[in-house]
Amino acid sequence: MKPNMQIIHPAWLRLSHWLNAVAAIVLVLSGWRIYNASPVFSFSIPNQITLGGWLGGALLWHFAAMWILFINGLAYLGINLLSGRLKTKFFPISLRELMGDIFAALKGKLAHDNLAKYNTVQKLAYLFVIVDTALLIMSGLVLWKSVQFPLLREWMGGYDNARIIHFVAMAGLVAFTVVHVVMVALVPRTLVLMIRGR
Ligand code: HEM
Repeated sequence: MKPNMQIIHPAWLRLSHWLNAVAAIVLVLSGWRIYNASPVFSFSIPNQITLGGWLGGALLWHFAAMWILFINGLAYLGINLLSGRLKTKFFPISLRELMGDIFAALKGKLAHDNLAKYNTVQKLAYLFVIVDTALLIMSGLVLWKSVQFPLLREWMGGYDNARIIHFVAMAGLVAFTVVHVVMVALVPRTLVLMIRGR
């Protein structure tokens, strides 16, 4: 088999990634509408860029997408952990390699010849968004069923703190997505790979 015909992203990963991307976007846009009903900070988000039309509609979108993200996220993590993919794709991470990648990126010379291997910046970005999504789900569970998840609520420092954690983790997800999409636009071959797998 020619090297460029090898499957780099298996079908389950591609399906999981795109389901996840749609769910994350729906969650963020509907979440902004829910936030506007009772803003925790002193600003609101323009309603024109939110989803749901009103609080009730936004909650319906939010819960529907939440189940997709939750089940899909568990499947993604489970398969990655059990198959050993998590260890081989995202580790080891070395400070030396990270510094090398940062300098190479600043000089515009970050290597993209082997798309099967993530560079250190990619590894850290993807690990960040995995942990950030877990935090979003855990703080979201506290906001949804605070009484039923008392331990989780205490871990989050109480209900009000969970709202702040949920917002900050959302901001992290949005920042990741913006940088991620810019990076993909800079190396469009990675997009073909995430669609076709090879
Ligand atoms: C909607 C716009 C998005 C596009 C066009 C996009 C595209 C891509 C592409 C092309 C890759 C492969 C990168 C590579 O080979 O270097 C990738 C990987 C990844 N993306 Fe996205 N993505 C999007 C949204 C998201 C969102 C919202 C999340 C997180 C919630 C996300 C999380 C990830 C993760 C974790 C990986 C690594 C997957 C793995 O190998 O296990 N992406 N994305």
